[in-house]
Amino acid sequence: MSYLGIDIGTSGVKAILIDRAGKALGEASAKAVEPVRPHPGWSEQNPADWWAATLAACDALSKAHPAEMAAVRGIGLSGHMHGATLLGRHDEVLRPCILWNDGRSAAECAEMEAALPSLRQIAGNIAMPGFTAPKIAWVRKHEPEIYAKIAKVLLPKAYVRLLLTGEHVEEMSDAAGTLWLDVGKRDWSDALLAVTGLTRAHMPRLVEGSAPSGDLKPELAARWGMSGKIVVAGGAGDNAAAACGIGAIQPGEGFVSLGTSGVLFVSNDRFRPNTEGAVHAFCHAVPNTWHQMGVILSATDSLNWLSGVTGLKQAELSGKAEASFAGPGEEIFLPYLSGERTPHNNAGARGSFVGLSHLSDPARLAQAVMEGVAFAFRDCQRVLNDAGTEMGRLLAVGGGSKSALWLRLLATNLDTEIAVPEDGDFGGALGAARLGLCAAEGADPAEVMTMPGIKTIIQPDASLRAAYTTQYARYRALYPAIEEARK
Ligand code: XUL
Repeated sequence: MSYLGIDIGTSGVKAILIDRAGKALGEASAKAVEPVRPHPGWSEQNPADWWAATLAACDALSKAHPAEMAAVRGIGLSGHMHGATLLGRHDEVLRPCILWNDGRSAAECAEMEAALPSLRQIAGNIAMPGFTAPKIAWVRKHEPEIYAKIAKVLLPKAYVRLLLTGEHVEEMSDAAGTLWLDVGKRDWSDALLAVTGLTRAHMPRLVEGSAPSGDLKPELAARWGMSGKIVVAGGAGDNAAAACGIGAIQPGEGFVSLGTSGVLFVSNDRFRPNTEGAVHAFCHAVPNTWHQMGVILSATDSLNWLSGVTGLKQAELSGKAEASFAGPGEEIFLPYLSGERTPHNNAGARGSFVGLSHLSDPARLAQAVMEGVAFAFRDCQRVLNDAGTEMGRLLAVGGGSKSALWLRLLATNLDTEIAVPEDGDFGGALGAARLGLCAAEGADPAEVMTMPGIKTIIQPDASLRAAYTTQYARYRALYPAIEEARK
């Protein structure tokens, strides 16, 4: 028996096969799907690109591991959260998906909160432009002819699920990021839906992430050499999926994710909202469990941007920074290229480089970018601590965790040990495969979601902590000053 996990990421699709014991049997990735940015602060993708990349990754796995692929009994999905995929009556896509890092709907957020004063209480979250509902409010105002045709709103992985199974289904962890879910009750909220003029009929059916959501269509099963009933699990939003992949489902267990966006994630035994510091309080992908997270919108995406403007690859940039590193430099970077969620909740914020001189070469700029992202995580830790949440050792996941310097900057700034799992890069896909296993076999998530082998543990660097505390204070002072100047 084997189980397939598919992670629909913002920059591409990853697929992984595991056996009943959770051992990886093979993996494949499909080409990057680049966001389209028609205006500053906007970010869209074509859902057809996710499907093409999903087919390409699964076809590649099937070619490289035909026997293991043929033995698949369960499939789990993970996906980038919040994206509004608008479907008409015949499931046709009405417009490109407005993504999680799109900041166009700030005005609609304020209008929604004014229309329903209990919104934060029910949703457990501030209305932020990244979430799904404000995007629909924007479409309602600016594209009324499209709004009028909406029959269903799906999140990115639910759209892929629709093509895999023919069913409209979503699970709790991703549904919590729509701003239409009563997160404490794990059910759609009629009051929240009404704020955007929608009803339950526009929503997919809800299941838990570890429960079945449908069966793989026979023609796809045949394409990948599979036979019999292949169960597709609810799955998880990419962050909850990563938590399942690294075994963080018990209270207090958490991780730091250095992906396109950055996430500081911790599991909770109950719904613990704290909207003051723009903390996200969502359902976890396993029953009766919730989680909190601080989200920064541009983590490796900041280095990706620097890579674009310097013409140097991200790995080259981080290599140069590592080679010349000697503690905090003069340059300070604010990573707000797509605005920021935690702790500022300001879609209109923008990035800055401060302290430039003739010596500011790519190595120094790359170091400042990595430091700026580490400071943004320090901000997230501060507001999670304010919410009474303590975290111990954190596991690191995401592409940026390949950089030893970035991990050292994080461990030092968060003053905590950072452990790097052996399969860090496949966190979301692995978590999804594990959810597929639970759904297909009825297995207990607590037994399946174990912690992976640890490759390295990075300790905080005590000799740098004081210097970084000073630099962090400078970093914190810059945001209000720059915002004031940009008014
Ligand atoms: C979480 C968030 C991102 C996306 C993209 O709230 O917006 O982490 O899930 O990965």
